Amino acid sequence: MPVKEQLIAEGLRQKMCGIFGCVLSEGNAAPLIHSSLKRLEYRGYDSVGIAVLNNGKISIKKDQGKIDEVHKIHNLDDLPGNIGIGHTRWATHGAPLKINSHPHTDCSGEIVVVHNGIIENFLDLKSELQNLGHIFSSKTDTEIMPHLIEEALKQNPQLNIQQAVQQSLKRIEGSYAFAIISTREPDKIICARNESPLVLGINHKGVFCASDIPAFLEVTNKAVMINNGELVILTNQDYEIKKISDGSTITREPISIEWTAEMAVKQGHPHFMIKEIHEQPETLRNTLRMQDHYLDLLTTFLDRANEVFLVACGTSYHACLAASYMFSKLAFLPTYPVYASEFLEQHGKSVNIDSTILAVSQSGETADTLAAVNCAQQRAATVLGLTNVIGSSLTRISRVYIGTQSGPEIGVAATKTFTSQLSVLAQLALKLAKKRGKISQDEMDTLEEKLGQIPEVVNSIVTSQEQKIQQLAKKYANSKVFFFLGRGISTATAFEGRLKLMEIAYIPSISFPAGESKHGPISLIENGFPVVFVCPKDDTHKTVIGNIMEMKARGAHIIAVIEEGDQDIKSLSDDYIEVPKGIPSVLTPIPYAIPLQLLAYYTALEKGFNPDMPRNLAKSVTVK
Ligand code: AGP
Repeated sequence: MPVKEQLIAEGLRQKMCGIFGCVLSEGNAAPLIHSSLKRLEYRGYDSVGIAVLNNGKISIKKDQGKIDEVHKIHNLDDLPGNIGIGHTRWATHGAPLKINSHPHTDCSGEIVVVHNGIIENFLDLKSELQNLGHIFSSKTDTEIMPHLIEEALKQNPQLNIQQAVQQSLKRIEGSYAFAIISTREPDKIICARNESPLVLGINHKGVFCASDIPAFLEVTNKAVMINNGELVILTNQDYEIKKISDGSTITREPISIEWTAEMAVKQGHPHFMIKEIHEQPETLRNTLRMQDHYLDLLTTFLDRANEVFLVACGTSYHACLAASYMFSKLAFLPTYPVYASEFLEQHGKSVNIDSTILAVSQSGETADTLAAVNCAQQRAATVLGLTNVIGSSLTRISRVYIGTQSGPEIGVAATKTFTSQLSVLAQLALKLAKKRGKISQDEMDTLEEKLGQIPEVVNSIVTSQEQKIQQLAKKYANSKVFFFLGRGISTATAFEGRLKLMEIAYIPSISFPAGESKHGPISLIENGFPVVFVCPKDDTHKTVIGNIMEMKARGAHIIAVIEEGDQDIKSLSDDYIEVPKGIPSVLTPIPYAIPLQLLAYYTALEKGFNPDMPRNLAKSVTVK
């Protein structure tokens, strides 16, 4: 089977999706499920499904496509029954296909599940269940859950549905928000959470469970937050929360949500961009749950390549630039970052069957990037893809692709997709280094451990530095120009900081490798010019200090993004933002980009601009 079809067939696991369930005291559940899924559409929209229970019978409608398209074909409202669950999907592995849309059922069709999350050990559980005779229809990780419950009930018929779910959850490794119905106990929904968000809504008409508050905010603002490791039994009058570990009951009263529906979609943030900046610890955790065999497939192609071009535009190009340092320093693989818009002119004639193109595009639809990969493919080069949108043109053109699993990015300025791209590229560089024997097991373990800590590092930067960065934005918002400088891999980070500020705060910004200053650009410096230095404590630290001093000597205001406690650079800076210690140089673009994203966002606010809708820009540039 061709690799791409294998990838489509192999792994279809939901990462950022929307689930909803309701038990009504009267009336049909389907119309409410449909409208609630519409309000969760920002969480994913490439396939949708609903299951309802009526007189002990379960009916399911599901298909690939946006909610409105599927509704037009199947009429999602036309399902009788006062209890039901629904799902709107954001595919991250494999193209969106009806067979892989939720809900999923067990062999008997009497247990039905919707899920948001990543089941990391699903392949092992699946073969165990298949050996016990269970038949699977999809290749998603989710589908193992109804069969696990079915098997638990087969082995212990005296279990009730909640106990069977509880027992099954203990077999699962990974993240989940499940909603489950069964004909065995047709008056309830069981839902459960580990890392993927889950919240209850409650009013006089019934009880609801959802991935996010917007799903039910139109019908109630009474919400109950569910925590990791908790399972809930919903009936039309009440809810009971239990600990998955020991079944003990937890009492938790509803809270009142004061958000408008519009705010709720932004989870209380004023803009999608700041919501997505804050989402990065979670989206980075998701990138660390990548199935190894996707990474191994890409690594194999990179390893055998005669030459590797990293092709992208904008922020994605900066991810490629950073990746070129990662591949070189870790795997001793030279790669060539190329602006997609220049690829045809620069390499259109030379790219050949021995060339490999790794195209990086969060949208997977950027015209310049697609033009570059089409040209390369026509010249028999191998095209690999890294994108956030499964089913996009790039995934259809790529021989092998991998998803960044960041969930939809609504803000025009790329933030969470950038750091997710970096995380996946770092994992590829690490795997390639290992495959090529360029790295010891100890070094590998250390880097993997540090990569695993990055989500928490990012979380600590956002929580500890955000206010300080807001002050910096106030202080420098009226600057007529900004400089962003870095050395080594931090050059890529500096370039990204420049783009962020330019595209949403409209301040002319200049960026180049700090070592280039004396070759011309330093003539631009005037008294008071803000110069942002991205300067982690890596091999370039000493030389960067020299660059800082040459700028300072000409009257520049130094804003340094530094490792916590770096006194040498603090003493030279007018302002500084601190990043936790101990980040390996090759991973620094991920955490060091966060302060620059926040600086751009708050500067745009200071200047009265809407960061979500920057002038003249589109989220996906589908024109050349
Ligand atoms: C980034 O903030 C910009 N929105 C833009 O530069 C973007 O990165 C570029 O257009 C590439 O988009 P892609 O990743 O979807 O290909």
